[in-house]
Amino acid sequence: MDINTRFSVEPIAEQPRLTVIGTGYLGATHAVCMALLGFDVLGVDVDEKKIETLTAGLVPFFEPGLQDKLLIALRSGKLRFTTSFDEAAEFGDVHFICVGTPQAPGSPAADMRYVDSAFEALATRITRKVLLVGKSTVPIGTAGRLTELVQSLSPLGAELELAWNPEFLREGFAVEDTLHPDRLVFGVSSPWAQRQIEAAFRPIIEDGTPVIISDLPTAELVKVAANSFLATKISYINAMAEVCEATGADVNILATALSYDSRIGGRFLKPGLGFGGGCLPKDIRAFAYRAEELGVGQAVAFLREVDDINNRRRVRTVDLIRELAGGSLEGVKVAALGAAFKPNSDDIRDAPALDVARMLHQEGAIVTVYDPEANANAQRAYPELSYADSAGGALLGADVVALLTEWEEFRNADPSMMGFLVANKRVVDGRHALDADRYRAAGWEYRALGRPAEPRTIALLHDERDSVSALSA
Ligand code: UGA
Repeated sequence: MDINTRFSVEPIAEQPRLTVIGTGYLGATHAVCMALLGFDVLGVDVDEKKIETLTAGLVPFFEPGLQDKLLIALRSGKLRFTTSFDEAAEFGDVHFICVGTPQAPGSPAADMRYVDSAFEALATRITRKVLLVGKSTVPIGTAGRLTELVQSLSPLGAELELAWNPEFLREGFAVEDTLHPDRLVFGVSSPWAQRQIEAAFRPIIEDGTPVIISDLPTAELVKVAANSFLATKISYINAMAEVCEATGADVNILATALSYDSRIGGRFLKPGLGFGGGCLPKDIRAFAYRAEELGVGQAVAFLREVDDINNRRRVRTVDLIRELAGGSLEGVKVAALGAAFKPNSDDIRDAPALDVARMLHQEGAIVTVYDPEANANAQRAYPELSYADSAGGALLGADVVALLTEWEEFRNADPSMMGFLVANKRVVDGRHALDADRYRAAGWEYRALGRPAEPRTIALLHDERDSVSALSA
């Protein structure tokens, strides 16, 4: 009997009990959604406070729609949380590992501490055939390395299998993206693992979601390749914005014209302050680093350029604010609208908005930040900045207004009303989100990167899948 046939007849758990190790944005959402889909789920974290909060029915971060779903899942009795790995190992037929892989201190590489310790903690306790599934974003080759590690630690030895299932959810859309993903990618090393992971996603597969089966390294690569592509697309249009600035061309008209070409498309082609967050910036750096280690650094050397273009946007935004303030930022009052790395999130990791606010402050500007959800996080990270608890509070007496995160609240604000609050009607639209004509008609001086000094309104193509109001989950 060949090895595949032997594995393929091994029984699987048809309705597997699931554990989700790591209850951050990814893990908490995955645990809640899987419980809603009818699985018995145990969420696990080493952070006792987080587990207490989740058990009490509170989501420890801002994510639209998740709070209600958590309560429904808890009340259904399908979802519990624990800090005990003994309980997790006893409970789970399929274990999802969703812990973070932040950028390592002082290095572009990914910090693998949390992933390694989660796999180790499980492996030493596993005594029956179960499937370990990695969801974290990791350097290529990690799943292979971890397979050897867990097999050497577990009493089960070579019988213990590992699969890789990269996650593509976007913060702000986490529930929708988890319940209705564009695709599922399963990296497996045996037919048994494939059948077991398919059972764990049956409701989503039956919904018609495309499934891609691959080996382990391909599954790891899909994730970093996708994030690299998205980062490159954003930096591409921002590079064009630089060219526009040197020529008097308008990057918004350019982006709109490009996006009507369906081969290019308009999503992630929005020019402005560029990308931030806990994923895109650190993922492209870790990928470039890993590619060097693998001897193919040249193949992705362009990612350093992508990173540089992105960082230059932050510096150029500060330049534009300085220019509008008359050449110096010393003593200039700036209203910084937005702190989160994007709207509908309270996440400030590598947030372009706060980087700009920090640089303005360093040059002597008096910066007042307001974000509808991220003020508390921002204040902890940047106590040297001032914070207002409303947009009006930040605008009061401002010499320049900087739109740094495109929350709906800021998009919809009335420029005439805003004009009564500020000292000078000058606005830098860092996210190309405001109606230039309306601002100018209300007497504002309007500036945006990659646009001429007196641009007219041009609406960028908008895809409904990027609207929070379109969330169906
Ligand atoms: C990103 C990916 O989009 C997800 O598919 C992936 O699962 C996730 O990383 C991850 O690796 O976990 P996320 O970090 O939530 O998701 O944020 P995005 O929506 O991708 O936005 C990233 C940044 O790009 C934001 O700062 C946003 O303002 C900026 N952006 C986005 C632009 O500057 N222009 C655009 O056209 C689009």
